[in-house]
Amino acid sequence: MTRILFVCLGNICRSPLAQAVAQDLALTHQLDLEVDSAGTGHWHVGEAPCQNSIVVASQNGLDISSYKARQVTQKDFEHFDFVIGLDESNISNLKAMGCLHPLKLGDFGFNGQDVPDPYFFNGFEGFDKVFSMIETCVKNFIKEKIIT
Ligand code: 4NP
Repeated sequence: MTRILFVCLGNICRSPLAQAVAQDLALTHQLDLEVDSAGTGHWHVGEAPCQNSIVVASQNGLDISSYKARQVTQKDFEHFDFVIGLDESNISNLKAMGCLHPLKLGDFGFNGQDVPDPYFFNGFEGFDKVFSMIETCVKNFIKEKIIT
């Protein structure tokens, strides 16, 4: 069993999408994975994902509507084999919390780019690009690190 945690700021827009894509791949390819997501911030703890992420997930055959946001804890750094931040500020926050070797999702297919924070996007525009970036990088990560 390999344990993977995706981390963004609020755990309501980006990391739930990464979690859903990885869980779907695990199901399709019968991979022994535990997948979860969390946020470095506390503001949205207990909330469902943002509506635009629920919609873009659903357009791609994934249901994230029952996910609940949680904040990352130091225990996560012992439990998970891979802790993957969605942007550079997530990585800095994780390191400041004591996470020794966080990975960056954009290093798996997007030259280390940040997955843009869509929280302040104007409506739905941009969410499909965020989704496809996340999907590409999660697929590459699984191919590179899990299916060996
Ligand atoms: P996420 O988006 O990190 O992709 O979940 C955000 C959600 C909430 C906030 C920022 C980013 N916020 O400032 O509350």
